[in-house]
Amino acid sequence: MLSAVGPPVTVRVPAKINLHLAVGDLRPDGYHDLVTVFQALNLFDEISVVSTHTGRGPVDRIGPGAPGIELLGDVTDAQRADVPLDASNLAWKAAVALAEVAGREPDVRIGLRKSIPVAGGMAGGSADAAGTLLALAALWRLDLGREALMEVAAGVGSDVAFALHGGTALGTGRGENLVPVLSRHTFHWVVALQDHGLSTPAVFGELDRLRATSAADTPVKRVGSVEPVLEAVASGEARSLALLLGNDLQAAAVSMDPGLRRTLRAGVTAGALAGVVSGSGPTCVFLCADGPSAVRVAAELSGAGVCRTVRVAHGPVPGAKVIDGDPAR
Ligand code: C5P
Repeated sequence: MLSAVGPPVTVRVPAKINLHLAVGDLRPDGYHDLVTVFQALNLFDEISVVSTHTGRGPVDRIGPGAPGIELLGDVTDAQRADVPLDASNLAWKAAVALAEVAGREPDVRIGLRKSIPVAGGMAGGSADAAGTLLALAALWRLDLGREALMEVAAGVGSDVAFALHGGTALGTGRGENLVPVLSRHTFHWVVALQDHGLSTPAVFGELDRLRATSAADTPVKRVGSVEPVLEAVASGEARSLALLLGNDLQAAAVSMDPGLRRTLRAGVTAGALAGVVSGSGPTCVFLCADGPSAVRVAAELSGAGVCRTVRVAHGPVPGAKVIDGDPAR
């Protein structure tokens, strides 16, 4: 329970997967240029914010050592161990960034109800940051346009802007420059979650290492061009898209976690059209022909012993959305 002054504002934010992820060379700033196609899936985190500002006396200042973040709902021991509740949490960084733009203190508590896997390659931390931005913009009744909020999001992390945006989008730069992608059709997915995470910087680093050490005659394979992927998304044909799913980070994720090879094989054996590592992994996602097929694949995959748990999901779904307590409504 969040202790606070006033009612909370709650926002729901989707997970993302990458249908296509082309990774360029390491930039001087430590990032890589990407060309990626994001899709938001109906796996959601809920973020609640409440004010701790009483309006009387000094503001309840929450310093960098003691940010007001807590986990809500049924929290597993693994989540408790994996989600940082200190100033390194991206949701807290988002609160600090927005407070700065608004010229005020981050006098809030943030509650996270997590369904998106932690360190799973589905941008769960970014979703929490995006949800915090939208919830605080409502709580503080900020007169910020969507563009301004997207700009703050891009400064907080590479995937935060997409979590606000949702749907299907082409991402360039670090992934934060977004263009919506025409996608009127629903795709059906099975998501295989692991019992451990992979560090995003470590996976990018492993890809750099693999590329630097591969022999000239056997370079690390790169995904093809993005245009056919966009066409397949627009057509809504899962079979066409299945042939084109690709992720440059997959080789690095599999190199760090060789068991993923078995997971990817098992999904296809179970009847999925294709499987791919999501973002920096270790979550694997499997595209299925339709909803009933996804349910069958999920049932078979969950008995195969190649992942912690499976979820059936679909996409695209909209981005971050206020679901409760918008004081402006
Ligand atoms: O932007 P964000 O904090 O989510 O990125 C986490 C890390 O992932 C970066 O510090 C960097 O190591 C890696 N990264 C990258 N190129 C990108 C996005 C992320 O190298 N485009």
